[in-house]
Amino acid sequence: MSHSTFPAHVTLVDVGLRDGLQNEAQPVAAADKIELVHRLQAAGLREIEVTSYVSPKWVPQMADNAQVMAGIQRQPGVRYSVLTPNMKGFEGALASRADEVVIFAAASEAFSQRNINCSIAESIERFRPVAEAAKAHGMKVRAAVSVALGCPYQGDVSPDAVEDVVKRLLDIGTDHVGVADTIGVGTAGRVTAVMERAMKHVPLAELSGHFHDTYGQALTNIYASLQLGVHIFDTSIAGLGGCPYAKGATGNVATEDVVYLLHGLGITTGIDLDRLVDAGAFISGVLGRKPVSRVSNALLAKRATA
Ligand code: HMG
Ligand code: MG
Repeated sequence: MSHSTFPAHVTLVDVGLRDGLQNEAQPVAAADKIELVHRLQAAGLREIEVTSYVSPKWVPQMADNAQVMAGIQRQPGVRYSVLTPNMKGFEGALASRADEVVIFAAASEAFSQRNINCSIAESIERFRPVAEAAKAHGMKVRAAVSVALGCPYQGDVSPDAVEDVVKRLLDIGTDHVGVADTIGVGTAGRVTAVMERAMKHVPLAELSGHFHDTYGQALTNIYASLQLGVHIFDTSIAGLGGCPYAKGATGNVATEDVVYLLHGLGITTGIDLDRLVDAGAFISGVLGRKPVSRVSNALLAKRATA
């Protein structure tokens, strides 16, 4: 397929604050999370997944959700989304004036049980009122199909299973569907096959890819998705996410690495890579380590010698 089929513009949704920090063993202060939101929007991000309204017993890292949402200075044109597993989570999202709620259903039964303690069918029924309430309040509903490229408990996941969950999510009123490689095992051929299935039901304007980089395939999987015209991706600043306790998965592909790829292809993102690198260096400093981004580390090294 030729480069001429690539989209001219790609939208990145930074999920580092939620998908990344939910996996960090060390606590991050709400003030630092708020500072990261400000730095991301200053760098040009227009979609930021800020936090999740889940059980603090399950995910203590997100227990400061309301505090973080209340502390951010909202910038016009930026969409602030939050993850909500049930109506209780939705109430929190509503009180915090989130623009969008993120729901998630697994493409494997085993993962659904471990992640949210219920079957796929039960999870869809839990999300139905969430989607309805979100619509009633003018909020957008984004859904992720987890373990779409492989499951840590079940192993292989078929494109049929992914397509089935996509259809069920659309049935309950989901506006947007993300195909998620939760544990980063997918390779380009399989990503193409699964995306093509999703594209049978979801318009390209509302379809995205969410690739963890565990096996180093995320950039290639994004490239394969771009060739199909997919032009929205979740990425994580500084590659946040993953820890010794989170079985199997590392963080999402780093936002910095994806921006470098896209700009190199002549695809616009609206993101200033230098300011993005600053944002990644900031949160990595808070965590006391280097960014998990080859591009970020290369650019920081170049700056240091300049
Ligand atoms: P449960 O224990 O089955 O639920 O958990 P429950 O209804 O029996 O409630 C148990 C307790 O949790 C109760 O409190 C509830 O009030 C409370 P208690 O009476 O014991 O004091 N509770 C809540 N508290 C705050 N906010 C809520 C909430 N709901 C119940 N929304 C539940 C079910 C879904 C809550 C739980 O399993 C949970 O929170 N799981 C965490 C799921 C999660 O955050 N996973 C990571 C995000 S998904 C992801 O990362 C994948 C994604 O990135 C895409 C990809 O890569 O695949 C999106
Ligand atoms: Mg994820």
